[in-house]
Amino acid sequence: MVTTGSLTFTRTPPAPAAFAQLRADCGWGLLPVDVARRAIAGGLINITCYDGDILIGCGRVVGDGVIYFYLQDIIVHPSYQGRGIGRQIVERLVMESKQMIPSEGTIGLLAVHGKEAFYEQIGFTSRPTSTVGAGMSMHVTKQQP
Ligand SMILES: CC(C)(COP(=O)(O)OP(=O)(O)OC[C@H]1O[C@@H](n2cnc3c(N)ncnc32)[C@H](O)[C@@H]1OP(=O)(O)O)[C@@H](O)C(=O)NCCC(=O)NCCS
Repeated sequence: MVTTGSLTFTRTPPAPAAFAQLRADCGWGLLPVDVARRAIAGGLINITCYDGDILIGCGRVVGDGVIYFYLQDIIVHPSYQGRGIGRQIVERLVMESKQMIPSEGTIGLLAVHGKEAFYEQIGFTSRPTSTVGAGMSMHVTKQQP
């Protein structure tokens, strides 16, 4: 746990309801709390940031914990953006991922449109380049019964 001013950074996973609410506060829709709980349980590394006991930022890494690490859910509450919190969250996730890589590995992410420069400042390379292709993804939506 690291405290900077009134903010505290921890490596503890967020409470599912607070995580779901933070995502919703950034316009990502409200995950059912049970879905949030299962998603968090499947992650490798978490960084959370609190103002007092209120969750105001988070980020997590999913992957195999050896050679592949993917950043997900990098979120800072809109009222706290622009203060360096997101950068600290990403830098801590990268540092912890690097510690788990035995000799060579990949740390990746799929940036939201317009956020590429934020990650480039921290050391990520936007794809495609002359040697690697674009990142790709498939979004799946299921009809609820
Ligand atoms: C993206 C996000 C996490 C950034 O967090 P933040 O705390 O506001 O960012 P920081 O204050 O740490 O910014 C770090 C640096 O990135 C820059 N930056 C922040 N957002 C940026 C953007 N969209 N484009 C370019 N640069 C950006 C800042 O200017 C700052 O630069 P500096 O260090 O030279 O001053 C935050 O805006 C957020 O939660 N957005 C909504 C959710 C989201 O889109 N998450 C990203 C999913 S890929």
